[in-house]
Amino acid sequence: MKTIQLNNGVEMPILGYGVYQIPDYDECKKSVLKALEAGYRSIDTAQAYQNEQAVGDAIRESGIKREELFITTKLWISDYGFENAQKAFEQSINKLQLDYLDLYLLHQPYNDVYGSWRALENLQKTGKTKAIGVSNFFPDRLVDLVSYNEITPAVNQIETHVFYQRFKDHDVMNELGVQHESWAPFAEGKNDYFQNEILTKIGAKYGKSVAQVTLRWMIQRNIVVIPKSVTPSRIEQNIDVFDFELSQEDMSAIARLDTNETKFFDHRDPERVKWFASLKR
Ligand SMILES: NC(=O)c1ccc[n+]([C@@H]2O[C@H](COP(=O)([O-])OP(=O)(O)OC[C@H]3O[C@@H](n4cnc5c(N)ncnc54)[C@H](OP(=O)(O)O)[C@@H]3O)[C@@H](O)[C@H]2O)c1
Repeated sequence: MKTIQLNNGVEMPILGYGVYQIPDYDECKKSVLKALEAGYRSIDTAQAYQNEQAVGDAIRESGIKREELFITTKLWISDYGFENAQKAFEQSINKLQLDYLDLYLLHQPYNDVYGSWRALENLQKTGKTKAIGVSNFFPDRLVDLVSYNEITPAVNQIETHVFYQRFKDHDVMNELGVQHESWAPFAEGKNDYFQNEILTKIGAKYGKSVAQVTLRWMIQRNIVVIPKSVTPSRIEQNIDVFDFELSQEDMSAIARLDTNETKFFDHRDPERVKWFASLKR
């Protein structure tokens, strides 16, 4: 598996397996076991996905050596703050049954980001996590966080797919040394994703699916990808993307699909921020 070196020297697989919206214990455990069997070594979960226990049980049952795995989880905003963050981290690694984490992310740019970030800095310094990062941070928030803290986030995980390609964000992250990681690489199927004519045509040239073209396009842009699927054949298909290379012409054709607009919601919309705040315990 190709890896990307993060800003503190840690190597992260460029492709991993995401487990958002797999709340059912048996389905999640079975799917993670299938992903590990198919060759994925990086798993992306979150406190908010409520499946850390199933992920942990699958990891243990797989028998794969800890050092071969790259496990990410995320802190939810209801547990932000210096002390709460440390407690929530302990709960997460207990559920995951791990001695250390590879990457711990602030899930959203709200609530006490700074107190939480200092807790994450301590977790990294004490070796409880190899790297720390953020998610859903727009460039202004990212630059601010970097400007007033000791450790620069290793990763920013943001919505990225062919309809929302994030070129400007990507450049800012590159400049700061923050690795771009995509969430929802298929826009969760929105916008007739898997029927897209351009992606289908490009795929036909290489004998690859729309999903595979998407993942390859992202990998060639040096973006970390974490596709989700509970379908065994798709889990296998989504990791089978290292035996072809998109031409410059294909990359340009895909670049033209960008609408520079979210297919979900804007994290800077005040109504959305209120909605997130209403979720607080
Ligand atoms: N940080 C954040 O705020 C945030 C937000 C969203 C997601 N994420 C992370 O990013 C990961 C991926 O994003 P996502 O789960 O939202 O969506 P996604 O990966 O864009 O899309 C998942 C959907 O695509 C389908 N699919 C997967 N592979 C396919 C293939 N080869 N052919 C056809 N359909 C396919 C899946 O169906 P089946 O499962 O039925 O096969 C599922 O419906 C998440 O699991 C999570 O780890 C993070």
